Amino acid sequence: MTETPVLPLYMRRDEFNPIPELAELRDGPGIRKVTTAFGVPAWLVSRFADVRFVFGNPDLFSNQRAQDLGLLRSPGLSEEENKRLRAGQMLAFDPPDHTRLRRMLTPEFTVRRMRRLEPRVHEIVTDHLDAMQRTGPPADLVADFALPIPSLVICELLGVPYADRADFQHRSSRVLDVSLPLDQRAELQREFRAYMGELVARAKADPGEDLLGMLVREHGADLSTDELVGIANLLLIAGHETTSNMLSLGTLALLRHPDQVGLLRAEPERIDAAVEELLRWLSIVHTGTMKVTTTEVEIAGQTIGAGELVVCTLAAANRDPALAEDPERLDITRGLANHLAFGHGVHHCLGAPLARMEMRTAFPALLRRFPDLRVVTDELDFRAFSVVYGLRALPVAW
Ligand code: HEM
Repeated sequence: MTETPVLPLYMRRDEFNPIPELAELRDGPGIRKVTTAFGVPAWLVSRFADVRFVFGNPDLFSNQRAQDLGLLRSPGLSEEENKRLRAGQMLAFDPPDHTRLRRMLTPEFTVRRMRRLEPRVHEIVTDHLDAMQRTGPPADLVADFALPIPSLVICELLGVPYADRADFQHRSSRVLDVSLPLDQRAELQREFRAYMGELVARAKADPGEDLLGMLVREHGADLSTDELVGIANLLLIAGHETTSNMLSLGTLALLRHPDQVGLLRAEPERIDAAVEELLRWLSIVHTGTMKVTTTEVEIAGQTIGAGELVVCTLAAANRDPALAEDPERLDITRGLANHLAFGHGVHHCLGAPLARMEMRTAFPALLRRFPDLRVVTDELDFRAFSVVYGLRALPVAW
């Protein structure tokens, strides 16, 4: 390995795979200095055990302090405005501030809650497959299936009008682009806040049966308007961007592995294990949130001083031979659920039960409906510089 690489380098892959330098790092020293996109040095942590250690110890590795450094703040944003934009963003806080927000939402995302939602998700999936069939091939699996399904689900759950999807989908995909200049990011954040501010005001005047209504009714006295807006924006973005990219990229991965897709078609009861394996193998969230050490700490034999930035590569950790045998191979029979695709510890993905349920419903329905589904292009457009990896389009026929 040569000089300190710029961090977005590790976003690049050949279709599904993390860049080879990451495996070299993981199987070699395990940790190294990199320069973040905004020119600040950070430690890049790559092994499964070390990433779990970092994520599992919020007292040693603080999300909140990383935010305090203001690294992602546009020069055009005042301290006051930055604080307002950060309100309610669970990932930007440590316990106990984080715990306070997380507790209000945990009951809404339990596996049990998701079971109740499952029939509606089935219906939404069926409607979209019907529409694809009516129109006939070719179709864009992203625009016609992978993006609208989780978008509609999170809209109904939260209480966001689905009619507004074009605007919020466009804004979300832009805000996740790490190559976006900071001033444009700030403008997008303002737009998100203005949009959600209106929905929060409406929910306050007349709280509905959705999640926003519940937050207003049950926690309205404890949450500021900025916090309500922040929570809702995080759920809206995280709720559709992630699952939609898993659905499209996951379909491509299955189609590129005929033995694996054949097995899943023949034995659809393997879906739960297949979903876990796709999550592990694809690691669409390449890295965890930046953290700052609160004290001197040792990782992979390297002593790191207090106040230094640490970033974990989930993509490399999920392909660690310490986690899975022959980790580069996609094997839907593994059934490993202790991968790090949803993170780990206090910030472990709140929406994991929802995402799993959506995928468990959507993948088998798609494969059943179109037994000869195939990709009809050689030129795929990957979101190489997005916080959430995936595809911009996936032309398919059947
Ligand atoms: C946190 C991945 C779906 C809401 C996270 C984290 C990861 C992740 C890696 C932890 C980040 C960190 O600690 O730095 C994924 C993947 C998904 C998915 C791969 C889909 C396959 C969802 C959905 C929702 C959601 C559907 C919402 C409904 C959240 C929230 C957090 C989070 C609110 C922050 C939790 C906290 O700070 O306590 N997700 N996510 N995610 N996710 Fe997801």
